[in-house]
Amino acid sequence: MRLASRMQRLPPYLFASIDRRVEQARAAGVDVISLGIGDPDEPTPAAVVEALRQSAGLAEHHRYPPYQGTRAFREAVARFFVRRFGVALDPDREVLALIGSKEGLAHLAWAVMEPGAVAIVPDPGYPVYAAAVELAGGEVWRLRLDPDRGHLPDLDRIPSEVAARARLLFLNYPNNPTGAVASLAFFEQVVAWARAHDVLVCHDAAYSEITFDDRPAPSILQVPGAGDVAIEMHSLSKSFNMTGWRIGWACGHPEAVEALGRLKTHLDSGVFGAIQAAAVEALDHQEEVTRRMRRLYQRRRDRVVEALRSMGWPLEPPGGAIYVWAPVPPGWDSIGFAATLLERAGVVVTPGVGYGPAGEGYVRLSLTVPDDRLDEALARWKASGPRYHPT
Ligand code: MLT
Repeated sequence: MRLASRMQRLPPYLFASIDRRVEQARAAGVDVISLGIGDPDEPTPAAVVEALRQSAGLAEHHRYPPYQGTRAFREAVARFFVRRFGVALDPDREVLALIGSKEGLAHLAWAVMEPGAVAIVPDPGYPVYAAAVELAGGEVWRLRLDPDRGHLPDLDRIPSEVAARARLLFLNYPNNPTGAVASLAFFEQVVAWARAHDVLVCHDAAYSEITFDDRPAPSILQVPGAGDVAIEMHSLSKSFNMTGWRIGWACGHPEAVEALGRLKTHLDSGVFGAIQAAAVEALDHQEEVTRRMRRLYQRRRDRVVEALRSMGWPLEPPGGAIYVWAPVPPGWDSIGFAATLLERAGVVVTPGVGYGPAGEGYVRLSLTVPDDRLDEALARWKASGPRYHPT
């Protein structure tokens, strides 16, 4: 058998490699605590599970669902958007159901990119952006998220010849992996830049509901006129503990939503209608569920930041998402640091270099293990893991 040459260039998916490492260590008898993947440990809310149970029996959901998502789901998204962001979306033209936002991000690259075209991706950034652009035949240009600017990029650093060839700019706030949260003022700059350069912005808002210290994250679609230049991807995975359910949506820019929807009609047949019915239940009760999740992750964030600071780490608490992005001590690289922590303490963290070259020098800790396991991981790290020694 011969594989496509693009497959030869496709590295193993970061989180699949981490899973393999965890399995190997467990098989060798290590009691591994994985802070590797952002996979919420809390169960999906009971009312959402109940909505699935009831809807699963309805014959209307046993045939193909509508390609663009059920009307009930798209209307629930529109209600959520008005309540949460004060933005009115047309459920017919501006909302599309996704099999999780990862799928939408990757397929959008296929809809927009072609040889010679450039996509600007954040560095560090969720690995799917760059992989999808390269698979679609486009070129990746990495835009550094500057720690000194709160992990926001400086758009003026994008050279004019890159901007001239750019079709797509990926952004993601609250940010994976850094935990940074963007302000509406930043999104205003992004929209102005995108308009000036005729570039589609794809804002990945998978963590929109997880922010701390009572500072809700804005949507880029709150910027007046943003729907002319931006599509936003949302997910129920992280906010509602639903990673296994595979449900999210794309919204905003009507032509981009239409193109993504049209592409998807050729590739998949949508999301099981009963899952969409359960998602309606989640979205209509979003505030009570996500308030609880924000409190939980804020508590865990504070424990991690305090423990790492007590070991010498220079850390600012992240404003959102479910991660702590920590520098590795001088003299270490991120893969070596993660391997040593696993070997000495049985604790898995994600090497920052997996998020792009600017992620080198960092590791990411996910806050998605129960409190007692998180405390155990931190205690083991303190007892036998590396410490932070500035030079
Ligand atoms: C993460 O941990 O960054 C993601 O949830 C993993 C993924 O989406 O594959």
